Order: sequence, then C-alpha cells, then structure tokens
Amino acid sequence: MSNSASIESRYQACLAKLRKRGQEHVLRWWDDLGPADREHLLTDIESIPWEILDRLIRSHVLIRPDHTVPRDLSPPTVYKQPPTPGQRALYDQAVRLGRDLIRTGKVAALTVAGGQGTRLGFDGPKGALEVTPVGGKTLFELFAETIKAARRCYDSPIPWYIMTSPANHEQTAEYLKSRDFFGLPETDVILFRQGMLPAFDFQGRLLLARKHRLALAPDGHGGSLKALVASGALSDLCTRGIEIITYFQVDNPLVKPFDPLFIGLHAKTGSEMSTKVTPKADDLERVGNVCVHDGKVVVIEYFDLPDELAHARNQDGSRKFDAGNPAIHLLNVDFVDRVVARSFQMPFRRADKAVAYVDQTGSLQEPTAPNAVKLEAFIFDVLPLAANPLLLEVDRAEEFSPVKNATGVDSLESSKRDQNARACRWLESAGVTVPRKPDGQPDVTIAISPSFALDAEDVKESRHQVPVLKPGGAVYIE
Ligand code: UTP
Repeated sequence: MSNSASIESRYQACLAKLRKRGQEHVLRWWDDLGPADREHLLTDIESIPWEILDRLIRSHVLIRPDHTVPRDLSPPTVYKQPPTPGQRALYDQAVRLGRDLIRTGKVAALTVAGGQGTRLGFDGPKGALEVTPVGGKTLFELFAETIKAARRCYDSPIPWYIMTSPANHEQTAEYLKSRDFFGLPETDVILFRQGMLPAFDFQGRLLLARKHRLALAPDGHGGSLKALVASGALSDLCTRGIEIITYFQVDNPLVKPFDPLFIGLHAKTGSEMSTKVTPKADDLERVGNVCVHDGKVVVIEYFDLPDELAHARNQDGSRKFDAGNPAIHLLNVDFVDRVVARSFQMPFRRADKAVAYVDQTGSLQEPTAPNAVKLEAFIFDVLPLAANPLLLEVDRAEEFSPVKNATGVDSLESSKRDQNARACRWLESAGVTVPRKPDGQPDVTIAISPSFALDAEDVKESRHQVPVLKPGGAVYIE
C-alpha cells in the first residue's frame, strides 16, 4: 500500500469511528493540513480508547458522575511514632528488615512527574524547578542526590523510574541529560510515558488544541500502573530483582523515599501497598482522608468527607478522621503486575478545567474559566485491592511540603520555609546553634544536601563539618 493510500485508509477508519459518535468535527481542517500535520491528527485520533470513553462520556462528561460517598466510614488503623512499648521490638525488627531490603537491591524509586502543573504555572517540567531555600537545587536534583546517597549508604544499585507524559517527556529527558543525570548511571534512570486521554467540552465533544492536534491530557497518576506495564518498566523492575517500589510525587522536596521503618513494616506485615499518613492541620483541611469502608482502606477527598465525620471526635477529644494522605506509597511489584494483568479498570474522576481550544472559525480560544472536562485516575484508588495495606503516621513537617500553587498554601514560598525549618531542626537536634529571631523563626537560610544527610541522625554524625551559622546568613550544607 502506498503512503497516501495508507493515510487515506486510516483517515476513512478514523472518520467512521468519529461519525459513529458524532465527533467528526475534529477532521474539519483536514483539507488545509500538510502531510506531517495529517499524520499527527490521525495518530491522536487513533490513540483514543473508545472502549473506555464511550461509557465515560455518558457517565462523567455529559452528567456529573454518580458518586455516592459511603456514610459508614470508619477511621483506619495507623502505626504511629514513637512506637508503644509493646510495638518497640516490632519497629526495631522492621528497621533492620527495611535496611536489608534496600541493601539487597529489592527497592526501586518511582517519581510520578507526568502532571501538567497548571496551578504552579512553571514553564517546563516541574522537576526542573529550583526549589531549595538556598543553593538553587531543583526537585529532580534533590531526588537524584537522595538516591545517590542511599546507593552509597546501602551499597546498592537503586534504580530510579520517572513517569513522564507525552506532553513533557522530551523536555524531561533533555533536562536530565543536560545535567548528566546528576552523576547517576544513565542506565539506572528509566523514564517511561503515561497515557493521555482527550478533553471534552461540556457537551461531550472532543476539543482541538490546534487544527491538527486533539486537546489531550495525562490520564492521572493512577495511570502509572498501566504505564509501568505497557512501557516495559515493570519487566525491567522484575529483571533487576526489585520487589518494592517506593512511590512519590515530583512536587515534594521533603520526601524520604528510603525509610527503613516504613519499608520494613510494609514487608513484615505482608502489605501489598502501604501509605504514609499525616495528622490533619484542621478538620476541613484540603487533603485526602484515609478511611476504612467495608473492611477496605479507601481515600475520601476532603470535599467528599461528610461534615459530621470531618468534625467527629474520639472520647479523648482528638480528631477521629485524622489520616491525611501525602501521596507517599510503597507498592509491591507483584501487586502492580496482578492488578494490571487482571485488567482492573481504575475509576476515573472528573475535573473541570480551562482548556485552550480551536473554535469553529479556526481561532484559538484561551478561556480562563473551566470549559472542559478532563478525566484522571488516582493511584490511591487501587488501595482497596491491596492485601494488608499498612498505614504509617509521619510528621508532616518532616516529610511533606509540596509545591502545587504559585502563591499561598503549598507554594514554592511555603515549601522553602518548611525546608529551612526542617534543616534548622536537624541541626539543632545535632547540637548546632541556629540563630533565631525573637519570635522563634530561624534567622538564617539553610538547605542540607542529601549527600550530607538523609535525616537528623546523619547530621549528628557530620556535625563537626557544619560551619558557624551567622544571623541573616544563607548556607547550603553539602
Ligand atoms: P497533581 O494532582 O498536583 O497535578 O499531581 P499536577 O498535574 O502536577 O498539577 P495541576 O493540578 O495541573 O496544578 C500530583 C503528582 O502526580 C503527578 C504530578 O506530576 C505530581 O507529581 N501526576 C499527576 C502525574 O504523574 N500524571 C498525571 O496525569 C497527573
């Protein structure tokens, strides 16, 4: 078949599928397009998983999904810190087991970095954002240094998997290459792409981002499971003998991906998927709530948690539903394999967003208010399928301060402040004098490189290398 004949037959096949669904408007500009643009448009259209979307358009786009939040929720069982006297031996054994698992090469890191970061509005992959309060280190750089430090500490070739999306893959790959993978072997930094889904207007019609491109968006961090398998990354994990994936988001510079206690408890309790939880800042905090429903661990979005449950108290006055989800998980490789092999269809959530589109006259419209529906799967929706899911409570100030927004809560500014606060605490716990203002806030700006210390204990060992901290000063300690 000649090239033009094959383009013609692909066009006819696409047209037939689109006509069947009343979506042929996306071929409106076909006659104006050159060969390369036609190729792009056909490829976009051919990528549409109609077998999923036919149903989702009816259930999630044309109407708001019928989403009944269970009333009979109960709080989950959470492993707390410090351990009770009765748990002390278990925690000690878990730490030893966790270290052994890292040392024997059973643990790999996974960063999900396929999001669009629209709230932050940074021009480039979020991982390339300079995030430290001093020293100008980027998120990817911090994670790479953390992995390098753990590889050194455990003498183990920990690989790093990074999920990108087709929209930011090339830029991410170029960025990491331009920085020479921050000294990690290139073969141990594995990038893989997640899937994309089309965006729809509120009438369920496909949108064109350009005359020759559909408006497509990444299918959510829940897309990571399918993408791990489809890209071959899961086979690669198996070939390397990895058993546990330590999963974290690209936007959290405080994350501790190699936490021996978490990894050890996960393995010792036979958990297939584990989650760190943080106590909530207030009853209505905008954070997912880890709960139990029908004997299964589930995450209920803050806007879905009934008010009476959000405000409910235990007899001692403490908050009853107090397990916030900072999106830090452990997943067994076997579990991912099983879930995907059984074709489990992750539930999709609807998000109404402002999406730029080409209108009927061919002009680009850039709405500021939501005009479109995006569909996303969330990783935590797989928790109910996991055997023995384990929840470990951690101190938010130590492990979670994401960069999501341009200003205010969860912004670059708040994250830098939290990074500085943690660095100061680590130094003080090691006996270093940190200048403070009369109100107790640090009077110094500090960032501690992961190559210097992965936790407060490491700082104690190297404290003699810390320079004298002068009021008003700024120091990157490495
Ligand atoms: P967010 O939910 O914060 O979304 O992602 P986002 O796309 O980064 O930002 P906004 O909502 O457009 O402002 C949480 C984490 O999940 C990853 C993100 O990269 C981030 O690490 N993610 C999100 C993906 O990897 N893929 C997705 O499709 C969505």
